Amino acid sequence: MPILPPRRNPKTGVQKEGNFLPIPSKFPKIIIPYFADRPLNFHNYLSTPSSAWRWGEHRVERALSERTSPLAMEGLHSMIGSFLNATIDDIALTGLSAPYSGKVRQSYNAPGGRKIIVATDRLSAFDRQITTIPLKGQVLTQLSRYWFEKTRDICPNHVIAYPDPNVVVCRKLNMLPVELVVRGYLAGSTGTSILRMYKAGRRTMYGVTFPDGMRDCQKLDHPIITPTTKAGVAEHDAPLTPQQVVAENIVDQATWNTVSAYALALFARGQEIAATRGLILADTKYEFGVLPDGTILLGDEIHTPDSSRYWIADTYQQRLDAGEMPDTLDKDVVRRWLTAHCDPYNDPIPTIPDEVRIATAETYISVYEKITGEKLVLPDAAVDPAKRIQAAVQDYLAGNP
Ligand SMILES: Nc1ncnc2c1ncn2[C@@H]1O[C@H](COP(=O)(O)OP(=O)(O)OP(=O)(O)O)[C@@H](O)[C@H]1O
Ligand SMILES: [Mg+2]
Repeated sequence: MPILPPRRNPKTGVQKEGNFLPIPSKFPKIIIPYFADRPLNFHNYLSTPSSAWRWGEHRVERALSERTSPLAMEGLHSMIGSFLNATIDDIALTGLSAPYSGKVRQSYNAPGGRKIIVATDRLSAFDRQITTIPLKGQVLTQLSRYWFEKTRDICPNHVIAYPDPNVVVCRKLNMLPVELVVRGYLAGSTGTSILRMYKAGRRTMYGVTFPDGMRDCQKLDHPIITPTTKAGVAEHDAPLTPQQVVAENIVDQATWNTVSAYALALFARGQEIAATRGLILADTKYEFGVLPDGTILLGDEIHTPDSSRYWIADTYQQRLDAGEMPDTLDKDVVRRWLTAHCDPYNDPIPTIPDEVRIATAETYISVYEKITGEKLVLPDAAVDPAKRIQAAVQDYLAGNP
């Protein structure tokens, strides 16, 4: 069967449609433990083992030990498959200001000091646009919604309303030019991660000195804040020390004190709730902003798989002791696939196989469902998501001019 080359958005270079083909049935279908009632067909992973593709290996291993009835094996794979060609890449809403296009979100100014932020399904990694992941924008918006609600007693946030599963209407903030990354573990795969730097021999990072002999993904004595500059779409974030943030007037001391206290308290709440769901929130990133009256609010997103690293708690120690990476529930999946197939910082990005896109979607949905304890409410796959979002935003603005 011919495989058509993927279409790419000429503006963003993001892959629009993949090469999704009906899955041959020569390999067994396997149930994924995260979804007691939802199947995933792992034929590609079984037929293309790769030592770098460890995520696939250990999930296949566990999946084999938890195989369930054939009836339960319908479902997730084909469900996600039906959204593969209906992902939201670039979305241009009409009747609004020109959008600001971030790596993942498109935002529009609205009257009354509001911003309308649409989460697309774009996946960015290594500061590049990689592909789209079915239902990712909805998961990001809905999971942030959950966490904004669970943390608003700690820190006020920018949310006003959710007119659509992919859209938040929020207070327009003057965003601080610094991202507060909070890390509880020696982890990460990007150039600014403490694990990469530690392995390269650095012992003082972000103003914190680390002892020799630490193991990959080891828990830190206490969470630390590793601030980075907020880089533009094509730039890389740069590490800073908290002292530099203030000394270089990136934010003033009082603001830094407030946001760093917020960040640590939010992270503690995040870790606490994640732990009750069998997950470890290993690290995350917060973005704060200021209202015209000087109030500091939490903006952007919170504790999503894009901004955070989640691990499975019950296998963490055992895998660490075996010298293995923790079972991860974040976009490390795609990062690892890319690292195994190219130099993700310099090479052209290869076409991401649909199986990897589906597996990534499954991971995002899994985090949502594990954390919230709710099933993700699926949109109608037959409805064009751009039209749906346009209508929802128009309705909202008509009722809330
Ligand atoms: N309440 C808010 N007011 C103003 N801007 C916001 C607010 N919440 C989030 N933002 C900004 O909107 C953008 C969200 O888009 P997205 O997450 O795609 O951007 P990004 O690519 O991560 O960041 P950037 O484009 O700034 O590099 C970010 O720049 C974020 O800082
Ligand atoms: Mg962002």
